[in-house]
Amino acid sequence: MPKSEDICGVVLAGGWGTRLMPLTTSTNKHLLPVYDEPMICKSIATLARMGIKEIMIVLGGYSGNSFFALLGDGHRFGLDIRYAYQEQAGGIAEALRLTKGFVGSRNVAVILGDNVFEQSMRSYAVDFVSDDAHDCYLFLKPVEDPTSFGIAWIDGAGRIVNMEEKPKVSDSNLAITGLYMYTPRVYDLIDEILETTGYSNRGELEITDINRLFMQKNLAKGCHFDSHWADCGTLDALLETSVLMRKWNLGPWLPAVSE
Ligand code: DAU
Repeated sequence: MPKSEDICGVVLAGGWGTRLMPLTTSTNKHLLPVYDEPMICKSIATLARMGIKEIMIVLGGYSGNSFFALLGDGHRFGLDIRYAYQEQAGGIAEALRLTKGFVGSRNVAVILGDNVFEQSMRSYAVDFVSDDAHDCYLFLKPVEDPTSFGIAWIDGAGRIVNMEEKPKVSDSNLAITGLYMYTPRVYDLIDEILETTGYSNRGELEITDINRLFMQKNLAKGCHFDSHWADCGTLDALLETSVLMRKWNLGPWLPAVSE
């Protein structure tokens, strides 16, 4: 079946943000400031820069009202924003599963609400829609501590040949960042993982298990990009990214366009 030309977006903002406690005891991680804006504005802006206007945010915890006050239905930002609610922090793939009805037959760009991409990823969205050979694009970036990320191994031709979530030891330093592009087939693969591998030992439905299944079916492509990327889920990364934002002096990434 040919790919849909439409892409919608999903921002995953569930989970408990335990690595940032006590900052996250009373505030949702994705509402913490990254210099001049709440963190989630950076990830929403990445989708908006890709040309995506229809976005579903998956929330968890108790901060729904704060997200509604900040973002509303999205019209102030020229976007159409809907919400879903994940009751438990059962993993990234579990949160994504909640968006099946919203995505329908469209392609979907999924971003983790704590991920910040310096530059526009629009060209990848354009490529993805016309690429009938792949149902999954992953974005790879070298990191200093591979034990903290989903890690990919590539062969001489640049094809992903293995991946593991937070390996205890690793001879690859290529992190799979928190931006994923999928066809709606992703929901079939999530169901396949639910019926086979199931939840991991840490009680999460792992996105890396879904991505590995795409790889095994020869449907995953690893894309390398040059610009800066950060996962703001740790104190140091949050601080470093705020300092970078100040240095870049770009102003808010998600300015209101109307009232
Ligand atoms: O940042 C890239 C990394 O993000 C990837 O390399 C890993 O493969 C991926 O598992 C993820 O690792 P983290 O340890 O950073 O994931 P974390 O638990 O911090 O969750 C990241 C975001 O996903 C979080 O900001 C909100 C969302 N999330 C997470 C969980 C566990 C949900 O929406 N629901 C959840 O149940």
